[in-house]
Amino acid sequence: MAIWRNGVVYDSRARMRDAQKAIAATSVRQPEMPRPPGPSGLDLATKLVLRGESAPLVFERILREHNGLAHFGRSGNHVYLTSNPDLVLQVFRTHGRHTIKPPVLQSSRAVLGQGLLTAEGDQHLRQRRLLQPAFHRDRIAAYAERMVTEGENHIARWQDSQAADMCADMSELTLQIAGQTLLGADVGDQAQEVARALKIVLANSTAIIQPFATVRAHLSLPPFGETLKAGDELDEILQRIIDEHRIAGDTGDLLSMMIASQEDGVGMDDAQLRDEAMTIFLAGHETTAMWLTWTWLLLAQNPHQAEWLYEEIDNQVSHELSFGDIPHLPRTQAVLAESLRLYPPAWMIGRRLQTDISFQGWQIPNGSIVLAPMWVLHRSPEYWDYPAIFRPERWLDAQGDYSERATVRHTGAWYPFGWGNRRCIGDQFAWTEATLLTALIARDWRFELTYPEKQVVPEGNITLRPKDGLAMTWHHR
Ligand code: HEM
Repeated sequence: MAIWRNGVVYDSRARMRDAQKAIAATSVRQPEMPRPPGPSGLDLATKLVLRGESAPLVFERILREHNGLAHFGRSGNHVYLTSNPDLVLQVFRTHGRHTIKPPVLQSSRAVLGQGLLTAEGDQHLRQRRLLQPAFHRDRIAAYAERMVTEGENHIARWQDSQAADMCADMSELTLQIAGQTLLGADVGDQAQEVARALKIVLANSTAIIQPFATVRAHLSLPPFGETLKAGDELDEILQRIIDEHRIAGDTGDLLSMMIASQEDGVGMDDAQLRDEAMTIFLAGHETTAMWLTWTWLLLAQNPHQAEWLYEEIDNQVSHELSFGDIPHLPRTQAVLAESLRLYPPAWMIGRRLQTDISFQGWQIPNGSIVLAPMWVLHRSPEYWDYPAIFRPERWLDAQGDYSERATVRHTGAWYPFGWGNRRCIGDQFAWTEATLLTALIARDWRFELTYPEKQVVPEGNITLRPKDGLAMTWHHR
């Protein structure tokens, strides 16, 4: 069952070709010019690839040594790494519309096609307008019911004193919720199938920026053979689900809303629906799973703050949880904000400039890649009091309400959901899910580290995950 785009079969090979073209087209050769100092390519490769050091920690050290702005890379790929909030605002907010996504993200077009995360320019704007209604407040309130039901079903299977990997457990839960809210109650069980194939495809997606990728893909050599096959399986599942939805009409899930959405009488074709569904499925479950995982780690390490949270939950959550409860859970939101600060699941964002920028006497030319790890800015002693300490109270104002203004000193130093025209479209969805699940779970459960002496190292791939998972033990409260 093939998906078509502009009269041509739109399969894994077509997406891989698109991704390669997009990467090649954006590389810009730059003249020799003075650039800020930074690490050598060899130094970085040794640390990140040979020694497998944690990228967030390596970048944090580099930025500390270079006062918030470092340069590395060469020829078509000059990279400016920054933790300066003024530069972050200039690139992502002021000049946001004169930037595109960097090569690593472009490579994910091989999987996500031209969905919202990877689309550029006018196409991105149109897609953003078409998708916006699916994230309207009323729709999120309706998804909230499904989030609570899935949460209840999931925790009903837990046993007192069980020991397991928290990352895997939270991923299973948010995956189920993504399946239900995106694809709908009847097809939610296919979420597992989608996730399995998506995992294979994603694990190999950056292979297309490696040498001889086109030839290797053409010959279906590893890892391309397996990747192309999984990609086609994904298409087949999604085409089936889209067809079923077109017949059923609005069933209250995100996909029905996307099918109904139109601009000037024109909606999305099947290829676009496939790309958006894939994008939201991916962006919508892994990030929230990691947000919750890091939150349980922080609560296990900070029993005093955990008690402070339980006090609110025990007072507020004696009934079936719903969307309307969220404003009455300021401490829960404060705990989650503090977790986003210390362990931002999308730990770094980047752009390729399509304009020249000057900053602190440096010329950052068109074509440069700017990388801004929020991991570093969210922990900067210049912008946060006691930055390394888990202090959820900092997010409450004098009335005890949750407020970003209570603690954020520089808007450029707090961006867990990104910036400007490319800010996360799912932020309210994610806040709703994380707040309801935290309250639901913490009402009855607490977790402790199974191996408290073992250091938890953050690993920065697409999302920030604990390296080797997070072994925890479950206890009834
Ligand atoms: C903890 C949860 C989440 C975090 C930390 C997060 C973070 C982000 C960030 C930082 C960006 C901007 C990327 C960039 O500028 O390059 C982004 C974009 C995006 N996110 Fe999220 N996200 C989360 C949850 C979600 C959810 C639940 C959904 C969907 C249901 C979602 C869908 C998207 C989409 C489609 C974009 C692309 C927006 C655009 O370019 O217009 N995210 N997210």
